Amino acid sequence: MRIGVPRETRAGERRVALVPESVKKLVGAGIQVTVEGGSGSGSFFPDDAYRGAGAEIVAGGAAVLGAADLVLKVQPPTPGEVGLMREGAMLLATLLPARNAEVVAALAARRVTAFSTDLIPRITRAQAMDTLSSMANIAGYRAVLIAASELPRYFPMLMTAAGTVFPAKVFVIGAGVAGLQAIATARRLGAAVEATDTRPAVREQIESLGAKWVGVPTDDSAQDAGGYAKELSPEFYRKQGELIAERCAGADVVITTALIGGIKAPRLITAEMVRAMKPGAVIVDLAAEAGGNCELTRPGEKVVEGGVTIVGPLNLPSEMPWHGSTLYSRNLTAFVLAFWKDGRFDLDLGDEIIKGALVTHDGEVRHPAPAAAKA
Ligand code: NAI
Repeated sequence: MRIGVPRETRAGERRVALVPESVKKLVGAGIQVTVEGGSGSGSFFPDDAYRGAGAEIVAGGAAVLGAADLVLKVQPPTPGEVGLMREGAMLLATLLPARNAEVVAALAARRVTAFSTDLIPRITRAQAMDTLSSMANIAGYRAVLIAASELPRYFPMLMTAAGTVFPAKVFVIGAGVAGLQAIATARRLGAAVEATDTRPAVREQIESLGAKWVGVPTDDSAQDAGGYAKELSPEFYRKQGELIAERCAGADVVITTALIGGIKAPRLITAEMVRAMKPGAVIVDLAAEAGGNCELTRPGEKVVEGGVTIVGPLNLPSEMPWHGSTLYSRNLTAFVLAFWKDGRFDLDLGDEIIKGALVTHDGEVRHPAPAAAKA
């Protein structure tokens, strides 16, 4: 089997799907790897490092795509790139099929067997393949660094000759993977942190990181069978809105990460709540890609409203591309090697992981996307 890694072409994407460390592992398992020259330059992996790991370096994406049995990518391919793939080849990338119906249709028409990393079930056996968690971890960490650099105050408590500096107050909304990393990072910088989430199981995790849980109590019905948060009643959101308004008013930094079902961003911070915040306060809205948790968020931009800075970053993992690529690459390698048996890729359509991640196969769209695509 030949794996092909083309250079990422989406504007602003600096990651690469495979790093030399993973190439070495795959080549060691008997898999051939072809990498487009310069693919790793955005994340500081030179062509020579790939060569040293056993990859073949070729110029141009067309040659890589045309020769590969399995294409590994970060971003979804463009329809043009799909057209360059071999009919019947496989693809593993973060396709987010609910947002990318056009490319999914192109993959089906090209008879590509496509897997999406974001659909890999979050079961114990697939933990090493979980790109959502790897990338959310980076986003949570970077969100705090953005907040710290925008904030006109210190994060830690300091005793100085000029007097005492009190720690920054950080409020984290949504304590999934990104939120928990944000809490941990803000704590490491010395902030006083409080956090809220609708899933009851998270309370203990928040407290174990040294933060204070605040929130409206819920029960297990607040999450679905996959562990994702569910949409709750208007009455719940009304009560939660009061709590969020109060906590935001006292906060120096608010980091929001809330998603429902892993895709939809609930609107939790209104313009009025922002207007009641302290001048100089900072909101980092990690849900910006899904529309934002804050009414005033502009995805991909920084806005200042009544002295409050609101940042809506997109694709934070690409802003830390060395680790963004390394962890993503390890996740993909774990997926490939899990199904690499007796010198071939075992496309076991009955396997829970394959079944979950499969988006197109045999000329058909296999992922039940139509309802989600409208979300
Ligand atoms: P996510 O990115 O889908 O959502 C972020 C957080 O927002 C979640 O914690 C959610 O409960 C919270 N949220 C939604 N509405 C909210 C509201 N109104 N107010 C406050 N918070 C709100 O979550 P992520 O990080 O992808 O994790 C989702 C689930 O997946 C979790 O249950 C987690 O335990 C599970 N998981 C399982 C893994 C495994 O390997 N088994 C690995 C990683 C996550």
